[in-house]
Amino acid sequence: MTLAPTVVEPRLPEARGPVSMAVLELLTERAPRNHLHRIDVSLHDSDPYGVDIQLALYVCYELHYRGFTGVDPGWEWNPGLLHLRAQLEEMFLTAVQRDVGDIGPEDTADAEMAKLTVEPAGGTGPSYFLRSKGTWEQMQEYFVHRSLYHLKEGDPHAWAIPRLTGLAKAAFVAIEFDEFGGGRSDHVHQQLFADLMVAAGLDASYLGYIDAVPTESLAVVNLMSLFGLHRAYRGAAIGHFASTEITSSPGSRRLVDAMERMGAPDTCARFYREHVEADAVHEQVVRTDVVGDLVSREPALDRDVVFGIRAHLMVEDRLADHLMRCWTSGRSSLRRPLSS
Ligand SMILES: [Fe+2]
Ligand SMILES: [Fe+2]
Repeated sequence: MTLAPTVVEPRLPEARGPVSMAVLELLTERAPRNHLHRIDVSLHDSDPYGVDIQLALYVCYELHYRGFTGVDPGWEWNPGLLHLRAQLEEMFLTAVQRDVGDIGPEDTADAEMAKLTVEPAGGTGPSYFLRSKGTWEQMQEYFVHRSLYHLKEGDPHAWAIPRLTGLAKAAFVAIEFDEFGGGRSDHVHQQLFADLMVAAGLDASYLGYIDAVPTESLAVVNLMSLFGLHRAYRGAAIGHFASTEITSSPGSRRLVDAMERMGAPDTCARFYREHVEADAVHEQVVRTDVVGDLVSREPALDRDVVFGIRAHLMVEDRLADHLMRCWTSGRSSLRRPLSS
């Protein structure tokens, strides 16, 4: 079997407004080594969920993952750029906290995770739509939106590893070990998704579709990078991780059903089939051994776990609303439709 090739360093995306333009122009220069260089960009009147802010933040975070071809790796720890990134993060986080709302004293991580396991009767949203009446082209669009995350699946949460101890750490790494293929490169979930993209006739390159997706898809990944890169948000990072693992299995089942109905290539269904099975197990491990152990060790993190779960659901809902708005009105959900 030939594995889809994966590019190590992606190309820089196109600017989508003045803030992302300022960041992208800066990255074409060599990072200053010996002095603090303040970057003056006006963030007033910018929408925290808007594509300009989300793309600028995405590019800043990407310097911690694979960087970009032709970009000086020194930018990763440049104080001027980090200062700008901190302002973008503040805007984003303030909006997320506002939209998540208050977390009451009776809201516990345990209760929140239990709620996630209850599938609503008559559920709506992209996976239900794709299962019942979506087209293959809409399925391909879904892959494109998800490619930003799945081609780096496991990476954003891996930042949490040094921030855990004991059983929470051991169990978390056990789940991540599966995400990273259990020692087999052809089983790495990032690779399974690259294979899916090729089988679907799409570009499997890392960040290959960053210019094509809407802001909602960028925010989904930015949230996990934000939580992962800040020790202060380790509870939220674990909550986010738990939420992805617990909701993955039933959602993946619907997508497998959708692909079977569409007669999609088996390599596409394989990625989701793998998640139906693996995440049913991961769900149990994450609830008891990761979150259970973490909050018994650090009870103050219980609310942060709840926040991470709700923040995950909130940004996912924003993306789901975008997809459903576009699909139900017969429009492409991408900035650049696949058929054009
Ligand atoms: Fe996975
Ligand atoms: Fe998983």
